[in-house]
Amino acid sequence: MTVRSSLTVVLAAGEGTRMQSNRPKVLHPVAGQSMLSHVLQAAPKGRGARLAVVVGPGHRAVEDEVRRLRPDATTFVQRERLGTAHAVLAARDAIAHGADDLLVVFGDTPLISAETFERLRAPLKNGAALAVLGFRAADPTGYGRLLIEGDRLVGIREHADATPAERTVTFCNAGVMAFDGHKALEIIEGIGNANSRCEYYLVDAVDIVRKRGWEAVVIETGEDEVRGINDKAQLAEAESVMQARLRRAALDAGVTLIAPETVYLSADTVFGKDVTIEPFVVIGPGVSISDGAVIHSFTHIVQSSIGRNALVGPYARLRPGTSLGDGGKIGNFVETKATTLEAGVKVNHLSYIGDAHVGANTNIGAGAITCNYDGFSKHKTTIGKGAFVGSNSSLVAPLKIGDGAYIGSGSVIAKDVPDDALAVERSQQTTREGGAKRYRELKTKAKKPKEG
Ligand code: UD1
Ligand code: CA
Repeated sequence: MTVRSSLTVVLAAGEGTRMQSNRPKVLHPVAGQSMLSHVLQAAPKGRGARLAVVVGPGHRAVEDEVRRLRPDATTFVQRERLGTAHAVLAARDAIAHGADDLLVVFGDTPLISAETFERLRAPLKNGAALAVLGFRAADPTGYGRLLIEGDRLVGIREHADATPAERTVTFCNAGVMAFDGHKALEIIEGIGNANSRCEYYLVDAVDIVRKRGWEAVVIETGEDEVRGINDKAQLAEAESVMQARLRRAALDAGVTLIAPETVYLSADTVFGKDVTIEPFVVIGPGVSISDGAVIHSFTHIVQSSIGRNALVGPYARLRPGTSLGDGGKIGNFVETKATTLEAGVKVNHLSYIGDAHVGANTNIGAGAITCNYDGFSKHKTTIGKGAFVGSNSSLVAPLKIGDGAYIGSGSVIAKDVPDDALAVERSQQTTREGGAKRYRELKTKAKKPKEG
């Protein structure tokens, strides 16, 4: 059996005015990844699957995102925003290049799955010229309505142009369409702009197909898969659908989520076996959590990896570049950044460890801080294995502390400490005679009303 070739055109040129944001609409994240990245991941890939993305003028950030995710994709700029059919034709060169199936999908429909693309392509094999993805909307306001006669799709009416009777229809256009690639250009080029907004509507493809005597069919899917995101409320709804999916997938993979609805995951979170996540944990993009690790409540983790049987939190903040080794521990009110903690390292309480490398089994006491920033640049702290950093130490970077070194608590360490050395740097003048009395005097004086 020969595989049908495909071209997927993703429309992402909209300004997204209703988002009330300076960021292009398709770059808003759902579960830690741009809407566009979800769509690109679901689109057909592999041999014979080409991809084109239509972007708005000046949307360099969108082009960069495409290049990052699918370097094989071609981007096209839609100079004027004259509607969805006009947007597809911005990719005319790619369409003219030829493919068996032309798929059109909107960049603002991030919940779409790869299976649905395949279901939509199936009727083309059987001779249909167009397959439209439809769904039953709880509230159809704003969506194009699918007009059905018998079991035939006879048209799609945009909300703005619909009669009151048509507006009662809840069967809606999801925006994803599959065209017979050899007829696609003829169909889309035939679309006019005679409607209330004078826009070239892709939905009018149905009329053209019918006029040519070809077949247009509807494939139905659930609303949660095709929610179109036009504003922040819809973005929040999509987030909640996606979170429910991710939690379910984590549970199915054996992760223990004590209160799943309070845990936020990212689409790329990777879990090992027997991981436990306590309530109220936020996991941002780029996180992997290995077998047996426990993430206690109120922990926030981004771009970090957590080793086997490691313990994190409660109330820990792991910023990008944190790597916690097997059996390691990052305890309460600890912040880490760009830091590797090798196996068995413990940072149990109230620390900031940034731009650091800490060798295996080193213990970092309560309140110890890496002073990694001198007001101009960031500097690195390297601590050897089996070392002990006493409570409330300030480690002034750049700094190297050797294997097995012992730093007395309260020290300010600004010079390298060799292996197995003991370093204690404290002010010995902790009391000044009469100091407390003098302080009380000053305080009383300050309270006295001004003379004069
Ligand atoms: C569109 C459909 C509607 C469907 C709904 C599903 C049309 C005319 N309407 O309406 O039937 O029910 O999606 O969510 O197709 N875009 C461009 N260039 C343009 C216009 C739009 O690239 O000139 C892109 C937008 O960035 C967006 C997508 O096309 O990703 C859809 O445009 P949008 O304005 O959101 O259409 P809807 O009003 O949601
Ligand atoms: Ca939309």
